[in-house]
Amino acid sequence: MKKIIIAAVAKNFVIGKDGKMPWHISEELKHFKKTTMNFPLLMGRKTYVSFGAKPLKGRLNCVLTRDENYQSDYDNLKVFNDIDELFNHCGKEGFEKIFIIGGSEIYNSTINHCDEMVLSFLNEDYEGDTYFPEIDENIWNIDNIEKHDRFDVHYYIRRKI
Ligand SMILES: NC(=O)c1ccc[n+]([C@@H]2O[C@H](COP(=O)([O-])OP(=O)(O)OC[C@H]3O[C@@H](n4cnc5c(N)ncnc54)[C@H](OP(=O)(O)O)[C@@H]3O)[C@@H](O)[C@H]2O)c1
Repeated sequence: MKKIIIAAVAKNFVIGKDGKMPWHISEELKHFKKTTMNFPLLMGRKTYVSFGAKPLKGRLNCVLTRDENYQSDYDNLKVFNDIDELFNHCGKEGFEKIFIIGGSEIYNSTINHCDEMVLSFLNEDYEGDTYFPEIDENIWNIDNIEKHDRFDVHYYIRRKI
């Protein structure tokens, strides 16, 4: 199962402010929805809360938390305390890929273990308190760039060593 990071990243690498995304770009949200639809999502508990603690429709929402008592009761939501258990579960379900949708703590801990990244780079800087990790050009190849009005989507593939 391919592990794919997906994120919207400001020019200055900000991804969040006060527990939310500091912009609303509907074209970017459409791109996110179209890309991830029908595939499982891995998200940190704080990102899940930022959606109003409601799962995104049409996708299995896998929420990672260290809290063993964390509960949220929806058919398309599963809570995990261990990231490998989460990946094993989705692999066993037969999914061909899983999208890692943030936030910062989750991106930082998965960027060295994922296969691909789909990053929407916004054309502007934003003020914020959470950032996307540095991208090492020795590790990542840009396979394709898709231009939009306010952002460009960069499709990254991990270089084969
Ligand atoms: N621009 C974008 O594309 C984008 C995407 C997603 C999120 N965001 C933004 O990013 C910000 C949130 O990011 P964040 O870094 O603060 O939080 P986060 O990564 O969403 O969630 C962190 C939480 O995940 C759980 N967690 C992390 N690693 C774990 C592990 N190894 N095992 C078990 N649980 C683990 C912990 O939950 P517990 O505390 O419950 O133990 C931790 O507090 C928000 O502002 C959000 O809007 C932006």
